[in-house]
Amino acid sequence: MPTTCVVGILWGDEGKGKVIDHLAAETDYVVRFGGGHNAGHTLVLPPELAGEGKLVLHLVPSGIVHPHTVNVIGNGVVVDPLHLCEEVEMLHKRGLDVELGRNLLVSERAHVILEAHRRQDQWAEQARGKGRIGTTGRGIGPAYSDRCGRIGLRVGDLCRPDQLREALDGLADQKDALFGPAGLELLDREQMLEQLLAAGDRLRPGIVDAGKVLRDARAAGKRILLEGAQGCLLDLEHGTYPFVTSSHSSTGGAFSGTGMPPHQMRTIGIVKAYATRVGEGPFPTELHDETGDAIRKAGNEYGSTTGRPRRCGWFDAVAVRYSGAVSGVDELVLTCFDVLRGFPLRLATSYRMPDGSETTDLPAFDLGAVEPQVVELPGFDEDISTVRDFDALPQTARDYVAAIEHHTGLRVGTISVGPGRDQLIRRGTA
Ligand code: IMP
Repeated sequence: MPTTCVVGILWGDEGKGKVIDHLAAETDYVVRFGGGHNAGHTLVLPPELAGEGKLVLHLVPSGIVHPHTVNVIGNGVVVDPLHLCEEVEMLHKRGLDVELGRNLLVSERAHVILEAHRRQDQWAEQARGKGRIGTTGRGIGPAYSDRCGRIGLRVGDLCRPDQLREALDGLADQKDALFGPAGLELLDREQMLEQLLAAGDRLRPGIVDAGKVLRDARAAGKRILLEGAQGCLLDLEHGTYPFVTSSHSSTGGAFSGTGMPPHQMRTIGIVKAYATRVGEGPFPTELHDETGDAIRKAGNEYGSTTGRPRRCGWFDAVAVRYSGAVSGVDELVLTCFDVLRGFPLRLATSYRMPDGSETTDLPAFDLGAVEPQVVELPGFDEDISTVRDFDALPQTARDYVAAIEHHTGLRVGTISVGPGRDQLIRRGTA
């Protein structure tokens, strides 16, 4: 099957970067289909490849370190052109071979994030007060809103100065009408135009009809890897609304966000051996005690984009089963299993609803009021970070994997036991 889609299963930060990097070795195209530079995909590489080892990518697809791959930013992504130029610059400084038009392409249909969107995002968060979403403040929601409102700018506009000026004026008129009464600084249109044109000049060789490139590639039998951002429970429609991002981060977004039609595809869901969430919103298995703090410390659970501490909790089989069904997940990659050394192994198998009933379905409402029903299994004290063979894991660790498979109905094909490229236990096809 030439196309594989990788999605985060819960609220993002599951370790997709490492899995994409692993799969990219046998892939021709790696494609981001949604989100923007709110994402932070971390790769831990051998020093000879990119200097210091750890590389955090926000917009550029995680296949970029493999010289044979073409990396595509699809139409479903919202692109901050200034940030993209900086990210390419950073990759050059790290010694990576990145050439727009050859191994990095950007869809001309992708929408642009402007300074106006960042300002609006941060202002809206403040205005929400206690009901704030906890966004990354990078302008993601307002950029997608303007796409729906049909006043957005597209990446292709950056190469059309007259159209760009006109479109920018139209958008700035609307924003200033909002910013003025709210006491926000009005937009400096000339400065924005100048910056956007400069970014357009820089990005021009890579700006293409990416949908056509991908459809042609698929017709030619090329192997395509669709790289999800965030996670299924942050999906605008299927996630924990309104505490979600503004794009379709489950598998459905892979089609609209690339211009590739639905066809046979293998979907891999990435999930941690425990659960984390950054930002606000319901999290049934969240730990508010020292165990949560200990997991955060053991797993170094701090956001790779904003540095915020991540909320930590037990594995939630109800939520994982739901996301697996919504995204048509064929198998799971279980990450950060090494982090659970010395912890009891607990997982939620159902929820008690506020009316006393019990369910194994993720409810659309009242998720903040459910009581997770948790089972506990014996933990392991061994260091499993050097294990590469499933049968060499402690029996208790294998029992936990079996319990996850039983309660989610999903097969665990691969287990990650550390951030390094080779720290994987493969059981199947992933
Ligand atoms: P936004 O995407 O910046 O609008 O933020 C909306 C919600 O999604 C907030 O709770 C963010 O913390 C969360 N979020 C956005 N991007 C990521 C990500 O890449 N990983 C984890 N959470 C994210």
